[in-house]
Amino acid sequence: MNQRKAEDLVRRLAAALRGTELYSPTHPLVQRGIDALSAAASEALAAAPSIVIAFIGDEVIVDAVRLPRGAATLVGFARDLRERDIEKVTFTRGLTRDELRGLIAALSERTSQTPLPDRLTARGIRHVTLGRVVIEEVSDDQTGIAAAQRIYGTAVETAETLWQAAKAGDQPDTGAARKIIDGLARLVTQDRTSLMALTALKKYDNYTFTHMVNVSALAMAQARALNVDGALLREFGFAALMHDIGKVHTPLEVLNKPDKLTKEEFDIMKRHVVDGAHILRRTPEMPALAPIVAFEHHLKQDLSGYPEKIGSRKLNLCTMIVSIADVFDALRSNRPYRQGLATARIRSIMGEQGNPAFNQTLLKRFVNLMGLFPVGNLVRLNTDEIAVVTAEHPTDPFRPQVKIIMDAKGDTVEEPLLANTWDRDSKGEHPRAVVEAVDPEPLGIDPLKYL
Ligand SMILES: [Fe+2]
Ligand SMILES: [Fe+2]
Repeated sequence: MNQRKAEDLVRRLAAALRGTELYSPTHPLVQRGIDALSAAASEALAAAPSIVIAFIGDEVIVDAVRLPRGAATLVGFARDLRERDIEKVTFTRGLTRDELRGLIAALSERTSQTPLPDRLTARGIRHVTLGRVVIEEVSDDQTGIAAAQRIYGTAVETAETLWQAAKAGDQPDTGAARKIIDGLARLVTQDRTSLMALTALKKYDNYTFTHMVNVSALAMAQARALNVDGALLREFGFAALMHDIGKVHTPLEVLNKPDKLTKEEFDIMKRHVVDGAHILRRTPEMPALAPIVAFEHHLKQDLSGYPEKIGSRKLNLCTMIVSIADVFDALRSNRPYRQGLATARIRSIMGEQGNPAFNQTLLKRFVNLMGLFPVGNLVRLNTDEIAVVTAEHPTDPFRPQVKIIMDAKGDTVEEPLLANTWDRDSKGEHPRAVVEAVDPEPLGIDPLKYL
């Protein structure tokens, strides 16, 4: 099947479903939509015994044909199906118009408790099968990096759906947001190490969504260390997650511009704080903190920054925490215009004397919290070996426990060696010491594997 026909088929499927949801089943538009779909499906099935339409992430793939990305209606449709655990739809030869009508009707019953495949069977539909993705439930007793990774991954996916909803002018699903905040809050309390290691990854290319989750996690970690807990901790996390949501209105060429923004472009960029506050204020169930933080997060301690000319006010504690998390995550991430910076370098940038951007007490606490070499960081030792930080020293941030994974010649070590850089030799000296953090990406290393 060529790309045009493949796209046409999926568009007709999406249109038929949309029609059924907008009009009564007997409405001529609905009938026409199903006719159009049926015609496209018959044509395709005349050429092949079956057609598989797969929804993977935001991509739609028909047989082996990948549809061009970015078509908004297709992205929405793909997401809609994916949200209902439908990963692929298979049509097989013999498919009738009645079966298609039944399929569309079954898809439009959104409140039914019966699983979709069972409803298709009940309707006698034999030439359509729905492949399902098994979503693993993460239970409380699962811990460790794998469980944290699942929670983090789900959070990033949910962040994307929240973003897309806001972008389409819809209200973000606060229920879904609360779920992921709960997961992250639990990690912050029970397994902060794993969560912080995940936020330190730079390999993700979907910066917008990982940034939302990272800022949320980093803000909750700070709040937790200030003894904020329970519902308030979650409100902080929620507000942090949504801090940049106003950027859904920022044109992509400004948002992703690799070079320095012009004055005009920067003025456009600045609008995201006000836009965000608007979006969040009109979303029901949104914590009251969220629009405040969105509005304030680029204001500095002396109220310079933006929005400009806002009169006198006292920045919210949550705002001050979020700005620290925000700048830290932005500096650490790989961006089109520069590589992510190492922790030590970020510390010095953020801590520059007299920098009014941050509350200095909160910043100091944050630096202590993150440690000099956080768990999951890749580091170079004085011996020229490369190691992954596996644990922090309880009092000395310069001397973590590490796992050595590359020798001085740059060869991978078969059996990674655990070393305490606080250990002394017989002469009372430290044989190993951490020299600097290194970026795992150019070395092709996934530090998490070693935790
Ligand atoms: Fe921002
Ligand atoms: Fe941000």
